[in-house]
Amino acid sequence: MSQNLSVVSQQIVYLNGEYIPMSESQISTQDRGFLFGDGVYEVIPVYQQKLFAWEEHLQRLKNSLAAVSIPNPLTDDAWLDLLNTLIAKHPWQDQFVYLQVTRGIQMQRDHLPADCLTPTIYAYTNPLKPVDAKILTQGIQVVTLEDIRWLRCDIKAIALLPNVLMKLAAKHQGADDAILVGRDGTISEGSASNVVIVKNGELLTPPNSHKLLPGVTRIVIERVAASHQLSFVERELTLQDLQSADEIWLTSSTKEALPVTLLDGVKVGSGVPGPVWNRMRDHYQQYKAQFVSGLV
Ligand code: PDD
Repeated sequence: MSQNLSVVSQQIVYLNGEYIPMSESQISTQDRGFLFGDGVYEVIPVYQQKLFAWEEHLQRLKNSLAAVSIPNPLTDDAWLDLLNTLIAKHPWQDQFVYLQVTRGIQMQRDHLPADCLTPTIYAYTNPLKPVDAKILTQGIQVVTLEDIRWLRCDIKAIALLPNVLMKLAAKHQGADDAILVGRDGTISEGSASNVVIVKNGELLTPPNSHKLLPGVTRIVIERVAASHQLSFVERELTLQDLQSADEIWLTSSTKEALPVTLLDGVKVGSGVPGPVWNRMRDHYQQYKAQFVSGLV
């Protein structure tokens, strides 16, 4: 608790052109992000004070903004400068940056956005903690749930109520997370992650589509897999594919790849983090070290 408080008291956030203490940051009650969930966001890992996979995150931010017709308020250089300035104001070597753009403030509530609104830009950073040692040795428990979301899950929208409800439902079932099964019977992703399975030594993941977020960690894993002669294949996955997988991983910027060892109460493979996950974890850490040294 006291550690959390000290983190908060040191925190500087970026809000609409200013760097200010988090405790002093305020937004309007009429912000469309607050009233309608009308905005998009990014979560970007930072290693040794360097933004990781920045181009990919920036591209996805631009795609999300374009998809919801919010004008991109900054140039590529200005985005980079904003986040690097924010990162440098904090002592943590490894951080994760949260960046949100909403459509802006509209005094009269109306579903229809007014013309010429000024987007609200908000960013903050937190220390990025290593994944629990227990998870690395024992893995996590996951349940499958019906994917109750809309048909534009490729947009990184701030409206996350379905994801919150699915995470809660997983918790109520005694699990750490959920893997989502779409109305067409295919697997889309986790509640805040992408899904990769291992079958006969091959990595398999659902293709990018409106059903899931195009994860940046997934891109990095594909790149790392290619440089270690691991086959990475995009194809639709069913519940049966999950149930017969040798390994299941959940991938995200804050957790990298987490091994799932229990699916709907049944062991995945031998019930411990698998050999391919172990190899990928080593390769991924090497890739991060090369990135920090400027080699990739
Ligand atoms: N979420 N799918 C969903 C629904 C997500 O929310 C996320 C990440 C991912 C993985 O994307 P990436 O590898 O680019 O982090 C997939 C972030 C971490 C979050 O909302 O906190």
